[in-house]
Amino acid sequence: MGTTDRISRYLTAHDLAENLARDVRQGLRKRPKVLPPKYFYDARGSAMFEEITRLAEYYPTRAEEAILTNWATEIAELAEGEMLVELGSGSSTKTRLLLDAMRTTGRLRWYVPVDVSDTALQGAMEALGADYPDLQMHGVVADFEQHLEHLPQGSHRMIAFLGGTIGNLEPAQRAAFLAAVRAGLNDSDRLLLGTDLVKDPDRLVAAYDDAAGVTANFNRNVLYVINRALRADFVPSAFEHVAVWDAKHEWIEMRLRSTSAQTVRIRDLDLEVVFEAGEEMRTEVSAKFRQEGVEKELAAAGFAVESWWTDPGNDFAVSLAVPV
Ligand code: AVJ
Repeated sequence: MGTTDRISRYLTAHDLAENLARDVRQGLRKRPKVLPPKYFYDARGSAMFEEITRLAEYYPTRAEEAILTNWATEIAELAEGEMLVELGSGSSTKTRLLLDAMRTTGRLRWYVPVDVSDTALQGAMEALGADYPDLQMHGVVADFEQHLEHLPQGSHRMIAFLGGTIGNLEPAQRAAFLAAVRAGLNDSDRLLLGTDLVKDPDRLVAAYDDAAGVTANFNRNVLYVINRALRADFVPSAFEHVAVWDAKHEWIEMRLRSTSAQTVRIRDLDLEVVFEAGEEMRTEVSAKFRQEGVEKELAAAGFAVESWWTDPGNDFAVSLAVPV
């Protein structure tokens, strides 16, 4: 990291552990049982997700990169950004496409990666520091559902929320998240949002249930995370990966199905959890969108869509939204 760079921390390791304990306790009490998807991403889970992005079946990352490759210059010219704030500091390929285009406009001064992981943040800042020596960086360790009020102040900020991660939130959570983003912005700021699009269910299911079983292992990784963090004794191999398209909600659901009747002990929660044979626990929703729906949700939060770009295959969309 450069000497001018710094990191603000709004989320300590202690906070993360408490959030995990609370979410697991609440989620396992629900019927059907549910675990939030944000706990997939320890070091091992993040590496597995990187592997997913390279799978033949998993098109979203490549589609979004194609959009940014084709349109980053136009995005940068429209946004006139002085600061790129990236929620979930993401792959450096996407970040670089945006930074390069924003630098060309001559306005870019700041890169602000926001992530729950201190190490991911430091990695991102170090990797970029060498290639963007004039760029000032300010990392923010925070949860984008909790700490949006702590984003660095300024004008001409571009808040990027890419990858389709907004699809991991259910409609009510999305509305709250978008409203919280909007509340912190002024007229000169912009939101750049990546959304995966509704398409043939077979392709969607394949993207979340790849032939090599990488996504299956990624799904089970949440059990390893809980075992370690809460001294639990999940046997990950006793859970099968399930991916289904929910046509009513237009989202993919990932689940873990207990292959037998079993009892799991979570020592730090002083909890015993009973699973029936075949019982399914929901581990992720990944919502898919239509242009109309994205426009509606953004409008409800106080944004107008200024531009909408898709990849040549129409698989994914990036929109630039302006506060109204
Ligand atoms: C990182 C949230 C965009 O929902 O497609 C990939 C995570 N889950 N395969 C997605 C994921 C299963 C991914 N996001």
